[in-house]
Amino acid sequence: MKVSDLLKVHVDDVALGGKAIARHEGRVVFIDQGVPGDDLEVTVTRVKRSFAEARLERLERPSPLRVPAPCPHVDRCGGCRLQSLSYPEQCRVKERQVGEALRHIGGLTPEVRPLRPAPEVFHYRNKMEFSFHPGERGEPVLGLHERGTFDRVFALETCLLPSQLSVEIVRATQHFAREHGWRAYDPRLHRGVVRFLVVRHLTLSDQCAVHLIATSDEIGGLETWAREVAGLSPAVRAVTLGLNPSRAGVAVSEEERVLLGEGTVTERLLGLEFEVSANAFLQTNSRQAEALYTAALEAARLRGDECVLDLYCGTGTLTLLFARAAREAVGVESVPDAVERARRNARRNGIGNARFVEGEARRILREWATKARPEAPTPDLVVVDPPRAGLHPRVVARVAELRPGRVVYVSCNPATLARDGHDFGALGYTLVEVEPFDLFPHTPHIECVARFERAIG
Ligand SMILES: C[S@@+](CC[C@H](N)C(=O)[O-])C[C@H]1O[C@@H](n2cnc3c(N)ncnc32)[C@H](O)[C@@H]1O
Repeated sequence: MKVSDLLKVHVDDVALGGKAIARHEGRVVFIDQGVPGDDLEVTVTRVKRSFAEARLERLERPSPLRVPAPCPHVDRCGGCRLQSLSYPEQCRVKERQVGEALRHIGGLTPEVRPLRPAPEVFHYRNKMEFSFHPGERGEPVLGLHERGTFDRVFALETCLLPSQLSVEIVRATQHFAREHGWRAYDPRLHRGVVRFLVVRHLTLSDQCAVHLIATSDEIGGLETWAREVAGLSPAVRAVTLGLNPSRAGVAVSEEERVLLGEGTVTERLLGLEFEVSANAFLQTNSRQAEALYTAALEAARLRGDECVLDLYCGTGTLTLLFARAAREAVGVESVPDAVERARRNARRNGIGNARFVEGEARRILREWATKARPEAPTPDLVVVDPPRAGLHPRVVARVAELRPGRVVYVSCNPATLARDGHDFGALGYTLVEVEPFDLFPHTPHIECVARFERAIG
């Protein structure tokens, strides 16, 4: 097999991340599109010893599992890769992927419980980021990235993941930007002004925040735009401008200005209120976040007298939920704004037995271990909820040194869960049970709650 070969293949499965898997002459071929059961004609784009990559050329015979893609942007957008599979089939694929990742990457065979499907398969996202990009005539285009590109954006007409109001805000902003000649930022030239529009419409509280990120505030009609988007619905509580003049292509701002409202919005999860700001993390599917957190609490099996350490705590969601059920809870988080919100959230909910430490988890654990930092907790339970990259091996080792009886790992990446699970295993922690959740229907993402128990001794 060599690059540019044209092959006819049959898709057997979907890999973590959403690529289709076929086999050809004993080699695994990953294809950018396709669902199990499809017969495809593909062009080979890369060949390695044990696998190859290929691009779809023609769908020769569609799989019986296919359903019509619900989104008109399916051919351009990189987001909902699984939307041509029926929802029950998407869930079966994800559940299978979790078991296989644990087995193949981590050599682990815990009980994998049935995947918990999302109650809503559309309009479930409470936050979405949209990008500005200059169009062919220099006009501002506002939408999502074309599949596989970082520097091409298509104008969004609709999106089935956020709320209807979020889409209306994008359309209104797109229209306003063109009318007022906003200059879209071009990441290749590092030129232009408006960069991202972040819309956070919280599902359970029905509060919406709109955050425009730009290199400067030289934006025509800015205040009028803010009033216009706020006028779309009483749910819009905050319109803010964030400044990000750096080259980094991330929707994060260094400085913020409130254009309208109070600047923050609040979600209600499992009876607690969580205030969120533009830069702080909050699970983007509120209803499934409640299910995920309930499972994490159940996996913890608390009696009420424990000390809980919550690493990667964000705005303190899990820390506060655990504090309600334990003697005390300590959250560790690296984003200063999130830590400030977490402390405010503790006060807001009248929770006095939670404290928060600002800093990078690995460094904080090292400082506690070497006594360079006072007030090290002695946790009975450690909860970790890291980003997709998972845990640094030193973090796994430090957690094990604390000798908690149990570790609850909330994961958004089965591959790194499997890798870290293997490391925990080598340090005396057995992965007993994993429960997968679908928080992001139509996309390849999978969340899991995993329970590790320390072997006696
Ligand atoms: C997946 S979120 C989980 C947040 C929280 N548990 C929740 O459910 O809302 C991961 C969090 O880890 C934080 N984070 C990322 N890297 C970190 C690090 N090295 N040390 C501490 N926190 C980190 C991020 O800012 C983010 O808030």
